[in-house]
Parts: sequence; C-alpha cells; structure tokens
Amino acid sequence: MIKSENFSITLTPFLFYGILLMMTLKAKALAHPNIAFIKYWGMEDEARRIPANDSISMNLGCLSTRTTVTFDTQLKEDTLTLNGEPVTGEGLLRVQRFLDRIRTLAGKKVFAYVESENNFPIGAGLASSASGFAALTLAGTAALGLEFSERELSSLARFGSGSACRSIPGGFVEWRTDPLTGESYAESLAPADHWDLVDCVAILSDEHKPVGSEAGMRLAGSSPLQEARVLDAERRLDLCRGAILGRDFETLAKVTELDSNMMHAVMMTADPPLFYWLPGSLALMKAVKRWQKEGLPVTTTLDAGPNVHVICTKDAVEGVFERLRAFPGVKDVLRGIPAGPARLLSPDSQE
Ligand code: DP6
Repeated sequence: MIKSENFSITLTPFLFYGILLMMTLKAKALAHPNIAFIKYWGMEDEARRIPANDSISMNLGCLSTRTTVTFDTQLKEDTLTLNGEPVTGEGLLRVQRFLDRIRTLAGKKVFAYVESENNFPIGAGLASSASGFAALTLAGTAALGLEFSERELSSLARFGSGSACRSIPGGFVEWRTDPLTGESYAESLAPADHWDLVDCVAILSDEHKPVGSEAGMRLAGSSPLQEARVLDAERRLDLCRGAILGRDFETLAKVTELDSNMMHAVMMTADPPLFYWLPGSLALMKAVKRWQKEGLPVTTTLDAGPNVHVICTKDAVEGVFERLRAFPGVKDVLRGIPAGPARLLSPDSQE
C-alpha cells in the first residue's frame, strides 16, 4: 500500500511535465479581421515594419480565423493548410518567416504544421491576413511557451502583416508608432460593446486580388499624393478617434469616406497605377451617398479590393442589408459587428 503510494508520488512529476510538454507544443487561437476607418498604406521603414501613418479600425465579429499550430520535432520543415488545402509558394514562405521570428524569441529550433480555417473569402480585401497573422501570433507563441503581454503580441503580429497588429486587441483599436522609441503596436480605444455598428460587406468579387497589399503598398511612395495623405493623417486620426469615443456617426462617416478615397487616390496615382475598384464599387458608393441624403446612418470604405464595406448603426441594418442584397452586381453580403480581442482556444475546441 505504502509502496504504491510512493510509486505514484514519484511518477506524478514526470506525468505532469510530460503532459505539460505536450500541451506547450500545440496551441489554437481565434482572431477576427478588422476594417480600418483610417487606413494604413505605405511604410516608413519596411524592415522594422513601421507604417507611414497611424491607423484606426474595428474588429469584425462573425468573421473569424481559427489557427492551430503544432510544433513537432519529427518535422523537417513548416507546413501550412488553409481551409484544409495545402499552401505553398509565397503564402507558405511568409508564414515560415514569421515562425522563424517566434522560434528565435523562444530559442527553439522546431518546425510546425499550421492549420488555419477562415469562415470568409480570402484575398478579396477582407483583411484575411490580419486575422490570420493575429491568430498565428497567439497560437505560435503559446505553443512554444512564450508569455507575452497584449502589447508585445500586437507588436510581434505586425511583422506577419501590418494590419494583424490591430486584430490582437478588442473592439475599436488604434495602431500607433511612438516616434521617440520606435515602438509600434495597437491598443484598444474602446471595447466592442461601446458602439453598435455593423459592417455589411457587399461582395462584388471574391476573386483573389491581382496585386496584394504588400506589393501595392511598396508603390505608395511613387504617388505624388502620398506625402499629403500622410501629412494630414494626424488630423483625420483625431477626428476619427473623437467620433468613435463620442459615438458621432456623422463625423465618423465623413472622415472614413475621406480617408478611403485618399488611400485609393494614392493607389490610382502610383507608378504603375493600381485600380482596386470595379464599376459596381463606385455605383454602390454613389448609392450610399443617396441613402445618406434620405437620412440613413450609413457610410462606406474600401480596402485593397473591390468589395464595399457599408458601415451603419444597428438600428439601420435591416434596411441597409435589404438594399445591398437587391443592388446590381452584389453577390453576397457578409455582416460583421464589433468584436473582442484575439484569444486562445483549447486545442480540442470545436468553437
Ligand atoms: C488597405 O496589413 O494587408 O487593408 O502589412 O503588407 O500585410 P501587409 O499589409 P496589410 O495592409 C492593409 C491595407 C489596407 C488598409 C488597412 O487595413 O489599414
């Protein structure tokens, strides 16, 4: 009796550490994409991933990425699947480079397989890289036992994709760079339940965009308009921050449309020029201007793609949704409501 008790006591630490080791090699995380009211477009320092200007966004719930990272000593290289399909080429390289960064921080040389699932179309200006790299940051660091603060996680996530740093904190978020220290990370301005906004994403095309944000952004400096856009950014950020904190939809609408148009003006005047809008995008933006005149609290913004984010208050959403469904060329309408931060899930969770 006493013997068996001793036996179990000596085994307990081994079992404990064995289980712990297995647990720290695998982790799963969930993150939401975000839509920027004040856009990030262009880098001040590409190597350190410092943006040309600060930006403000809102996380989009209902839309999400779930990513499981499993570090396995048997693997000879990292692998990636996206919605069950193996990813190779540039997509895989980008993830491998990011995992290298996490491995360096952890001081461990072990490869991983990464399984990522999105519940929304990839590559059509819906910021799938934001939720993807935010989830990868959380799952990858947790799997290797790194314990980082939200600020550190956000700062790290931007090396995967700039906008990913804004998907780490919850709700309404601002990504700032401190000009003195060079620290660059996103922080919550207000929680998700601060303001009942809805982003109705009108899908005009779910094709992969021909020029991704990373390549497009490298051209920003070739536009004579980029300097003016960046110089005026602080003013727009102040307006936007104030509108969010004061729940002032009219001001938010004005500055959101201005900022999106300024970014697209930079894209269109770059060398070579980039046109992300489709005729249907412009038709819808003009229709929204008419709906505003009818008194609907609604506004638009477009990322590096043709789909139109039609943002409205919750009380207007049913009317806006119906109008969008009936709009010529709109294939589908997704809905996103303000969402919380990226978070870890239990590796076996079906959530
Ligand atoms: C137009 O974050 O996708 O959506 O840092 O190269 O990955 P990389 O770019 P990414 O760019 C987002 C650009 C944008 C505007 C925004 O979300 O702020």
